Amino acid sequence: MPIIYRKYEPPQTCTPAVVTTGEEKTPDRPDGPRDNAERDLTAIRRLISQDLSEPYGIYVYRYFIYQWPHLCFLALDDGIGTSLSMTADAATTAEDAAHADTQTQRDNLVGVVVCKLASHRGVKQRGYIAMLAVATAYRGRGIATKLVRLAIDRMIQDGADEIVLETEVDNESAIRLYERMGFIRSKRMHRYYMNASDAFRLVLPVKVESTIRYCVLANELDAGPRSVADLEIGSSSET
Ligand SMILES: CC(C)(COP(=O)(O)OP(=O)(O)OC[C@H]1O[C@@H](n2cnc3c(N)ncnc32)[C@H](O)[C@@H]1OP(=O)(O)O)[C@@H](O)C(=O)NCCC(=O)NCCS
Repeated sequence: MPIIYRKYEPPQTCTPAVVTTGEEKTPDRPDGPRDNAERDLTAIRRLISQDLSEPYGIYVYRYFIYQWPHLCFLALDDGIGTSLSMTADAATTAEDAAHADTQTQRDNLVGVVVCKLASHRGVKQRGYIAMLAVATAYRGRGIATKLVRLAIDRMIQDGADEIVLETEVDNESAIRLYERMGFIRSKRMHRYYMNASDAFRLVLPVKVESTIRYCVLANELDAGPRSVADLEIGSSSET
């Protein structure tokens, strides 16, 4: 089963000037770009929410994916449903081809990572990995590692000083994956999730200043960088 990795391409002309944050829906013809974008979000949401202890509303997906589509990467199984390479050939017009391709993309979705990159307190560019999921049948073959690598590389290319995320303290497979990729634990957040479990904030320092900051904090504890999990860096969860 060949896995294809792709940056998410929103349906053409679907670049809303205003990001809607409620459940309202902008009128659109049934197969217009906005409607197709909503279907894409539904497919991504379905994949991600199957394992989340805390399901996010559609507006959370709109917030991230409409604003940072270039930081959303998909893993597609070319062996299920229609082959991705065949959809364009079968279509008679460019519009049909685009529609068939986006439908096939939804049908073949087996993994996704959703991120953002924004200024943090006006002093640094912080990348944030908001969501990561791989369909159960596809786990343990490097798909998440590849998706995260693609997202990290793009955020570094776009100027990230550091990349952060939160994960449940007992999500061992996610913690192993991120630590293997160089992330360190910077903070433990008490009862962070709705199910009352704690979260680790994991950080990948990218720029020298960020690396020094986390190394200094680790040294202050006279411990290695992987042992700063219980240190409160700053006071809010957004530090
Ligand atoms: C966490 C999650 C994204 C990992 O996805 P994944 O695609 O299985 O991750 P990978 O395959 O890259 O890595 C997982 C394991 O497979 C191993 N692996 C990677 N490539 C491999 C390959 N080619 N062959 C065999 N094993 C491989 C890795 O070494 C790793 O092993 P380890 O966990 O024992 O260290 C997935 O379990 C998931 O979707 N969980 C639910 C949602 C979730 O928890 N998301 C994270 C929230 S922060």
